[in-house]
Amino acid sequence: MTNNAPLLELREISYSYPGQNSPLLQNVNFKTDNEQIGVIGPNGSGKTTLFQIIMGLLQADDGKILLHGNTLETDKDFFRLRCTLGFLFQDSNDQLFSPTVLEDVAFGPLNHGATPREAREISILTLEKLGLKGFEERITHRLSGGEKKLVALATILSMTPKMLLLDEPSNNLDPTTRDRLITILREQELPHIIISHDLDFLASTCTRLFTMHNGQLLPCEEKELHSHEHVHPYGHKPHQHGT
Ligand SMILES: Nc1ncnc2c1ncn2[C@@H]1O[C@H](COP(=O)(O)OP(=O)(O)O)[C@@H](O)[C@H]1O
Ligand SMILES: [Mg+2]
Repeated sequence: MTNNAPLLELREISYSYPGQNSPLLQNVNFKTDNEQIGVIGPNGSGKTTLFQIIMGLLQADDGKILLHGNTLETDKDFFRLRCTLGFLFQDSNDQLFSPTVLEDVAFGPLNHGATPREAREISILTLEKLGLKGFEERITHRLSGGEKKLVALATILSMTPKMLLLDEPSNNLDPTTRDRLITILREQELPHIIISHDLDFLASTCTRLFTMHNGQLLPCEEKELHSHEHVHPYGHKPHQHGT
């Protein structure tokens, strides 16, 4: 363990899916510590694949992943990483699998050694923090897309991660839920990496921007993140978005 080591580091990560002629990811080098990073890049450029490699859901052909300076090698190492990094899937249906919201949110804490009572308490608190009080017994698969996204976020926050990896979190959200998600992420004050095509969302939640280009993750220092004022029929009067 190196004390000054970054929380997460990728060294020379390369990856091809079977049958691909040229590598999708080619010698990706990246490190991050206490930062809020946005990642942009065309569809199919390998952003989701990179997240899956970091989380140990896919195995890189080459290269190393380091957590706090320690190279991850065994299943146990990746289990430890999954206690540290919370991964929000691009599609919430891939993340939610229990009949009720409470069971889904309690699954992580239970899996990481909490007692049923502790898992229930932390789940109720997490749902409350996300404005989902009263959702405990709701049937997960009947929730709206936006509700599913927030419940999926609750399933990772209930594990008290040190960093979040969010894959296109604002996709298909109505403006109210999108604003709520921005507020939640700002309040969490956790380091995160957010993949998104929504530049205003990234400007509201991130301080550095990277792009996935030709199989590499490159900083876009020349692009300054800034949010835009938006225009709509309600003018300057106080109003609710999405109404
Ligand atoms: N399981 C898979 N098998 C083969 N090819 C895949 C698989 N998953 C993704 N791909 C391909 O790899 C490329 C990168 O996918 P992905 O990482 O999802 O891109 P992004 O998230 O940047 O849109 C795409 O061309 C996609 O079709
Ligand atoms: Mg993707």
